[in-house]
Amino acid sequence: MSADFEFDYPQTRTIIEPFRIRSMEPIYFTTPAERSQALEAAGWNPFLLHADRVLIDLLTDSGTGAMSSRQWAAMIASDESCAGATSFYRFEAAVKDITGFKHVIPTHQGRAAEHILFTNMLQPGKVVLNNTHFDTTRANIEALAGRAVDLVIPEGRQPRTIHPFKGNMDLDALRRAIVSIGVENIALVMMTLTNNSGGGQPASLANIRAVSEIAHGYGLPFFIDACRFAENSWFIKTREPEYVDRTPIEIAREIFSLADGCTMSAKKDGMANIGGFLALNDDNLAACCRNLEILTEGFPTYGGMAGYDLEAVARGLYEALEESYLRYRIRSIEYFGEKLLKIGVPIVQPTGGHAIYIDARELLAHIPAEQYPGWSLNNALYLVGGIRGVEVGSVMFGMQPDGSEQPAPMDLVRLAFPRRVYTQSHVDYMVEIIDSIYAQRRKLPGYRIAWQAPSLRHFTIRMQPI
Ligand code: F0G
Repeated sequence: MSADFEFDYPQTRTIIEPFRIRSMEPIYFTTPAERSQALEAAGWNPFLLHADRVLIDLLTDSGTGAMSSRQWAAMIASDESCAGATSFYRFEAAVKDITGFKHVIPTHQGRAAEHILFTNMLQPGKVVLNNTHFDTTRANIEALAGRAVDLVIPEGRQPRTIHPFKGNMDLDALRRAIVSIGVENIALVMMTLTNNSGGGQPASLANIRAVSEIAHGYGLPFFIDACRFAENSWFIKTREPEYVDRTPIEIAREIFSLADGCTMSAKKDGMANIGGFLALNDDNLAACCRNLEILTEGFPTYGGMAGYDLEAVARGLYEALEESYLRYRIRSIEYFGEKLLKIGVPIVQPTGGHAIYIDARELLAHIPAEQYPGWSLNNALYLVGGIRGVEVGSVMFGMQPDGSEQPAPMDLVRLAFPRRVYTQSHVDYMVEIIDSIYAQRRKLPGYRIAWQAPSLRHFTIRMQPI
């Protein structure tokens, strides 16, 4: 017989971190003078800062997460054999279990999977259609003389428009593009889940299914850039009524079942510090990809990863799909967004899966797009509060393939959250810093480019405040 206490069991509003911290890493406080000196020495480019000069590092959610005690335990017991390691077979089993794809090709990170896939699928002049290509994806396509075309729905380009699935592909635009470009000139259709460059916004299962049907109807292969597939699955569960009773892993399996393959950076929803894979069904394509993998990554049972990396990913993929984790993850981003909106800071809405995106073009209306308002805001976050984000705007995307300059559709600053790393008080601190920047926003200067590389310039660019 169980005791009957007749307690109330409240549905708490506070969604807590579903873990406790058993190994802590110090973070470093600096003075304003130290920060301005450090940023100037870095060519006013936060990418070039030493990380111990940064207090809260939201540069990326990629490879920066905290691994679990279970992942570390598995890593200790890894098999480091060059060929046929048991760690590979555990990794392969996990990827197959979740994605259902027949061939699993490990790579050291996501862009290596992209490079191997596109080298085998893309002839010069051929086109890839995507909701929005991430920058490395676009660069890999353009490096092979291909063309990357973005076809996200119009709402996906409007920071303030509320829509549950702003990462959806514009289906009419997709059909029109296929007809006008010509099937024979298109290499493949892709969807990036979630749509990182457009604000970490999800696509619905209905949309993914429709894209799959359209692509396959024209005989075109359909691939998924799966970096944040677990976060996308959570949004489907919570925003697409048909799927409320389905688990994230069931939703993920359904997503992958619609595609012919995927590229994956395990540094995101693989919950690892490094790693990735290419997974696909076509036997011939897989054989070609493995040949290139041996040339550039390593033997097909490790592909640029250590045995312990394979172990970390094999467990991480499942941990990323746990409901308690996803609920906390998506809620922490939403919490940050609510606080910023209360102050009046324009952000991409609704908040996405892994990051807050501040609309710098609107916030800093006094800085013309040609003077990179996103860059300016990001640098102010560092100078005022030791926070490092990343500009996703005209520095990242403004240089055209012919070398000319054109403002990007949006000038955003992305504050991306490493997985399982920061807590609510870190967020509350950042809200105070952004509140202060907002109050003195007219003091922020525009920037000009002092030196730039010919492609992916934002990583190494040197800037100068105007
Ligand atoms: N695709 C998407 C959607 C990404 O966000 C990234 C990486 C990649 C592909 C490439 O993966 O870094 O493992 O080679 N995004 C990181 C970011 C760098 O900060 O958003 P990778």
